[in-house]
Amino acid sequence: MYHLLFLQYVVLNALFLSKTTKALNFTAQCWNPIEIQLTAQYNYSNPYIDVDDFNASFISPTGETMTMSGFWDGGQIWKIRFAPTVIGLWRYQTHATDVGLNNQTGFILCHSYTGSLPIYTHGFIKPSANNRYLTYADDKPFYWLGDTHWSGFNIAERYNQSNDARFSSMFKGLVDRRCEQGFTVWKGETFANNAEQGNPPSNEGGPAWGKGGFFIDLNIGFWRNIDYRIQYLASKGMVISIAQGIGRSMKNASVESDHKRLARYILARYGAYPTVWVTAQEYNDAYSGACGPCWARVAAYVFDLDPYKRANSMHNAATNPIAYHDQSWYGFVTLQQAHNRVNSVDYWLAQYDATPAKPILEDEANYEDIIPPYGGGTITPKWKTRQSAWQSQIAGTFGFTYGAQGIWWGCYTVQDSNFNCGTGSDARAWNMAIDFPVGEQMSFMAQFWTSIDWWTLSPDNNSIVWSNAPTDTQRPYQKSDGDNRALVVAYLPLQLNGTVYNGTVTNLSPTDIYMSRWFNPRNGAYTIIDKGWTPTKTGLWSIPNQPTFSDDWVLLIQRINDLTEPNLYRMKK
Ligand SMILES: *[C@@H]1O[C@H](CO)[C@@H](O)[C@H](O)[C@H]1NC(C)=O
Ligand SMILES: *[C@@H]1O[C@H](CO)[C@@H](O)[C@H](O)[C@H]1NC(C)=O
Ligand SMILES: *[C@@H]1O[C@H](CO)[C@@H](O)[C@H](O)[C@H]1NC(C)=O
Ligand SMILES: *[C@@H]1O[C@H](CO)[C@@H](O)[C@H](O)[C@H]1NC(C)=O
Ligand SMILES: *[C@@H]1O[C@H](CO)[C@@H](O)[C@H](O)[C@H]1NC(C)=O
Ligand SMILES: *[C@@H]1O[C@H](CO)[C@@H](O)[C@H](O)[C@H]1NC(C)=O
Ligand SMILES: *[C@@H]1O[C@H](CO)[C@@H](O)[C@H](O)[C@H]1NC(C)=O
Ligand SMILES: *[C@@H]1O[C@H](CO)[C@@H](O)[C@H](O)[C@H]1NC(C)=O
Ligand SMILES: *[C@@H]1O[C@H](CO)[C@@H](O)[C@H](O)[C@H]1NC(C)=O
Repeated sequence: MYHLLFLQYVVLNALFLSKTTKALNFTAQCWNPIEIQLTAQYNYSNPYIDVDDFNASFISPTGETMTMSGFWDGGQIWKIRFAPTVIGLWRYQTHATDVGLNNQTGFILCHSYTGSLPIYTHGFIKPSANNRYLTYADDKPFYWLGDTHWSGFNIAERYNQSNDARFSSMFKGLVDRRCEQGFTVWKGETFANNAEQGNPPSNEGGPAWGKGGFFIDLNIGFWRNIDYRIQYLASKGMVISIAQGIGRSMKNASVESDHKRLARYILARYGAYPTVWVTAQEYNDAYSGACGPCWARVAAYVFDLDPYKRANSMHNAATNPIAYHDQSWYGFVTLQQAHNRVNSVDYWLAQYDATPAKPILEDEANYEDIIPPYGGGTITPKWKTRQSAWQSQIAGTFGFTYGAQGIWWGCYTVQDSNFNCGTGSDARAWNMAIDFPVGEQMSFMAQFWTSIDWWTLSPDNNSIVWSNAPTDTQRPYQKSDGDNRALVVAYLPLQLNGTVYNGTVTNLSPTDIYMSRWFNPRNGAYTIIDKGWTPTKTGLWSIPNQPTFSDDWVLLIQRINDLTEPNLYRMKK
């Protein structure tokens, strides 16, 4: 099949090419970017603003067209980055008013990816068909465990410098450790149009904007530095969640076109890497009075231009309205529980139950050790960070975005003067934060979920009847695979008063054999409760006492008649 198509296209394209003179050809591995570089005919007075119609159409071996926008990269140089998605011979043609950028053609021969990083084997991230979780392009479920680096494109997170011998640089050291821990997402924000975080924000490549002003005088050096960061993350197979740099600042539609231009630039520059878009930083922050419909139009514009139709969202403030569900650009819901908070599972269940369904994510909750000004006057207790991670997933989120004080905002030393770094005994530097215990516990959590078919589970109010259990924020809850009756997972938050939870698991299959285990979310260890039991004739099983009180626990119940011996051994940890 492939060879036939290939020959057919070589012939077709030879005809096509015979008319052109400047073709540039590429070979690439699928889902990895190629870069077309062209020289404009004119010297523009402001290239960033003057040329807004440069793109290329990429025609796949089966004749589908994907159009990617191009971007200015200094002087008279423009570029288009594109990652071909399927094996075979692609052809492309550029379009622009500028003669130098227009009507350039060539080929990309795409081979299958030879490495082992899942993002390039399975392709970029999008919502699942049932709108309950995210998948790779080939529909394989994608487990989201994110780390927050709001200043990760900024000088606050040093790209090339380290003050800890364990790490070659702050930026790379943090990425490397999170990869080892099983994190799959790195979240950053360019702040490129947000004076609030430095005026203007800068990195080793200089300030985001020159003296000509915000939204006008784009400094290429700033973006080239971000290229290094994105390329490093991409080389590690991390999915990069980008708040395009929109900040909170759009109060009304008068600046909407400026935001669109910047968002298009970021799409063009980084859309060939495994990114997802979260558009804004707290679009609905009451303090800023930001314009929700304006943001939605920016997000819709980016989605419309995005040839990969990747997952797209909008980062919330601590109020989480149910909004945008009916809009096609809105691929998933990002929530912010905020800091030093506890919620009952109802907080996430309300979002999960909203219609039409969208995949939901807890994207900012109880950053570990977050400083008192954000934590209600005190350092947030660590158990709250872990509780948010587990409770949100039990209540229907497809993953979790963690954050650590000293990293969510990059703090090079405990003496950093940035407000977000705290002072005195509250301050944490990045190389302290990378060893935080709950950060490590996120790794155990990811191993737990990815060892089971987590995407088959939904919040299930009926599979456990709790008694002697709190009904407040510490209420235990569970998900199950419903009618299949093969898998139940419950999270039992800690009770500070050390009470035992009692409960009965219901709706199990009375003719099947089950195994039940406690999972300790604090050290990742499993304790077998019973490795071969059958429920009562009415499908019931009583939950025994938790191994310890005043601690949180995870209960895992699995049908084992269909598990093979090796799986059982693997699980006996
Ligand atoms: C593109 O270039 C080819 C050959 O250089 C030419 O025949 C064709 O008319 C051009 N198309 C456009 C739309 O400029
Ligand atoms: C690109 O590939 C085509 C088809 O093989 C070939 O005709 C053309 O000469 C190549 N162009 C360049 C610039 O190498
Ligand atoms: C554009 O500007 C550069 C640098 O000032 C100069 O070298 C080049 O000749 C100019 N090109 C045109 C077409 O004016
Ligand atoms: C691509 O560019 C052409 C002209 O340069 C424009 O007419 C077209 O709308 C653009 N397409 C997309 C999808 O951006
Ligand atoms: C990082 O440092 C190396 C060695 O000093 C240098 O070659 C490179 O240009 C630097 N990269 C960035 C992005 O600053
Ligand atoms: C809209 O925003 C612009 C730019 O910030 C400002 O000058 C203008 O007063 C705002 N208009 C309204 C109605 O808020
Ligand atoms: C779950 O079931 C209990 C007991 O029937 C009921 O009180 C509660 O409202 C239900 N909660 C949800 C979220 O459906
Ligand atoms: C123990 O604490 C939980 C909350 O953690 C509360 O719901 C419950 O009522 C308390 N039990 C007793 C016996 O005080
Ligand atoms: C809770 O369950 C344990 C173990 O089954 C049992 O010993 C205890 O009496 C139960 N407590 C309540 C209040 O039901």
